[in-house]
This record gives sequence, C-alpha cells and structure tokens, in this order.
Amino acid sequence: MEYTNLHVEKRTPVATITVDRPKVLNALNRQTLDELDLAFGELAHDDEVRVILLAGAGGRAFAAGADIREFTGLTREEGHAFSLRGQAILRSIETLGKPVIACIQGFALGGGCELALACTLRLAADDARLGQPEVKLGIIAGYGGSQRLPRLVGRGAGLKLLLTGAVIDAQEAFRLGLVDEVVPAAELMARAEALALEIAANAPLAIKETLLAVNEGLDLPLDLALMREALRFGHVCGTEDMAEGAAAFLGKRAPVWKGK
Ligand code: COA
Repeated sequence: MEYTNLHVEKRTPVATITVDRPKVLNALNRQTLDELDLAFGELAHDDEVRVILLAGAGGRAFAAGADIREFTGLTREEGHAFSLRGQAILRSIETLGKPVIACIQGFALGGGCELALACTLRLAADDARLGQPEVKLGIIAGYGGSQRLPRLVGRGAGLKLLLTGAVIDAQEAFRLGLVDEVVPAAELMARAEALALEIAANAPLAIKETLLAVNEGLDLPLDLALMREALRFGHVCGTEDMAEGAAAFLGKRAPVWKGK
C-alpha cells in the first residue's frame, strides 16, 4: 500500500515503518496516525514479518509530538475524542502480537514519546531527546503517556517528567529505564535490525505468547497474572515448535521454526 506520510520497507523477517514528515519533525497529524494504523494492521497479518522497526525520517526527530496545528481550538468533547482515537491506535500497536522496536533519533516529544512508549522496546541514538512537554502547552499527555510513562519509569520519575515537561537526553532516559539501549546515531538502525533478528531467531509462537503474558499480566495482581502466564505456557505446549526446540537442542543443530 502507498502512504503519504510514512513509508514501509520489508526485509523479511523485519519490516521498518518510517514516519516521513521531516519538515515538521514528523509531527503526528491525523492522517499520519491513520496511516500508522493501516501499516501496522497490514504487517500484523503478514506472516513473513516477525519484528517491526518504527523510525522517523530526516535525522532530527522520531516524532516531535502530536501536530500542534491540529489540536488548537478543540472543544472539551472534541478533545476527549481526539485522545480516545490516539489512545486506540497506540494500544493496537502495543497489542499487535509482534515486537515493535522504536528507533529514536532526535526528538521524541509529547505524542512522539507516547508512540515510543507503546512500542515493545526503545532504542535511542545518542542524540535522542525525550519528554512530555504537554503542560507547557496547557494540555496533558493524551495518548497514554500519563499511564505508560509512570508504569515504565516509576511513579516519581514519571510524574517529574509529566509535571515539569522537561526534555531529557538519551543517557538520562536510559538511566530511568525509558529507553533500553543508547547507541551512536549512525549505528541506530543497524543495531535495531540486529536486535530484531536476534528476536526473530526464536520460536514465533513463543514470542507472541511472551508478549501476551507480559502485556496482560503487568497490570493485574500477581496471582491473576501468574494464572495468565500458566495459560500462555499451556498454549505453547504441544506445538510443533516446542517439539522442534527440544529436538534441535538434543540434536545439537539450529531449530527450524514453523510457527505451529
Ligand atoms: N506539531 C506541529 N509542528 C511542529 C511540531 C509539532 N509538535 N514540532 C515541530 N513542528 C514544526 C515547527 O512548527 C517548525 O515548522 P516551521 O518550519 O513551519 O516553523 C518545524 O517543525 C521545525 O521546528 P522548529 O521549532 O523550528 O525546530 P527547533 O529545532 O527550533 O525546535 C523542538 C525543535 C522540537 C524543540 C520544537 O520544534 C518544539 O518544541 N516542538 C514542539 C514539541 C512539543 O511540544 N510536542 C508536544 C506536542 S503535544
């Protein structure tokens, strides 16, 4: 499919979605969010694609936020709908069933930071700048940032970022656990692809069930979460991949996964 504000490149088993509005630092307007929704939806059903990388074009930004021109003048009702719509699209990325790695070069602010938070993992270039500066604009994070950020970095550190609107560098983001690795900017995409291939070398159903177990379980009380884990563990048992994993180990050879 052809998109206006992003492009999709497939180098199976990895696909890369690049938000491409560099003149406005890849700000996420309505059309871009719709296109992200379509592109992720398409890749979710593409069995050849095991891991998805998400990046921003132009080298200056992953995404510098929701498009500020689009939310000035929203009424209370329109603002509510605006937030719900963005939340739903990011939630579907988070629950896609395949790992999504945010490749953050330059600014990931506001909605851009929230988009990264909805991804499975976050790699930052050493020039990355992250933050939730919404309060400086008289608004609040509305694409899940007020919930995912404190869940990821802890209540205190999350509230500090949300209340000050501070923009932090890659090393500080790493120290807080907001990003998982920091790499030189020139190596960002190569490192992301290597990480994607490392994940894609593992059993497809096991990757999917692990994502489900973590995503479902983290917001549940531990006893309920453990029940979910046991259910997910049961789902991978009896599969062809389970038999193959053991056979390959005992046969001292690389496994050949079927995803069945
Ligand atoms: N929405 C719409 N346009 C945006 C944008 C956003 N979130 N972020 C940047 N842009 C546009 C700018 O308006 C500018 O457009 P112009 O050339 O037509 O004037 C262009 O992108 C380049 O940005 P500029 O501000 O000139 O670059 P800079 O290097 O001086 O500053 C930032 C970079 C990221 C610090 C600054 O653009 C900024 O603060 N952006 C808003 C960040 C934000 O508050 N995001 C949360 C929104 S909820």
